[in-house]
Amino acid sequence: MTAQRTAPETMGETDVIDLLQAQHAMIRDLFDEVEQASAKDRAEAFTRLVRLLAVHETAEEEIVHPYARRKIDGGDAVIDDRLAEENEAKELLSRMDQAGPAAPDFMENLLMLRAAVEAHARSEERYEFLQLRAHTSEAERRSMAAGVKAAEAMAPTHPHPGTESATKNLLVGTPVAMMDRVRDVIRQTMGKKP
Ligand SMILES: [Fe+2]
Ligand SMILES: [Fe+2]
Repeated sequence: MTAQRTAPETMGETDVIDLLQAQHAMIRDLFDEVEQASAKDRAEAFTRLVRLLAVHETAEEEIVHPYARRKIDGGDAVIDDRLAEENEAKELLSRMDQAGPAAPDFMENLLMLRAAVEAHARSEERYEFLQLRAHTSEAERRSMAAGVKAAEAMAPTHPHPGTESATKNLLVGTPVAMMDRVRDVIRQTMGKKP
């Protein structure tokens, strides 16, 4: 298993909806990996999961949801529901990150987080992405995909090749710090004030 496989910015998809759906599959695989990891490997896999979720959700919040809010029917209600789901998952993720993977309730929380994140991803695919695809051009979706990848590439805790198992060597940040960093990068790139 290489860290590359769970680095979202290296994905080949050029359409933002294909890209986000491929990331949803990557998130499911990474939950499997954390669940199946030995106690010794769990921290490293969990670090990658935290990073992937942080960059994925933040890129959606900054680039995709605002666009969908304007473009799709009933956009405000659909996006408000998605943001509420994302916030709930982020709170649990932050609590788990703080307590660490050795906490006695880690596996129980992981299953709860997984259920919440997967239900959220299904709702995005069903209520947001289908309509977004119908209401946008290929060029718009390509440009959003480029934005998402650029932001994800700048996110912290990027493991250096060959050091992925040396968890201590990774620049580990809290989920909130990671999301803030991704948000800053996106806003700078898009020319907005932070
Ligand atoms: Fe999301
Ligand atoms: Fe998503």
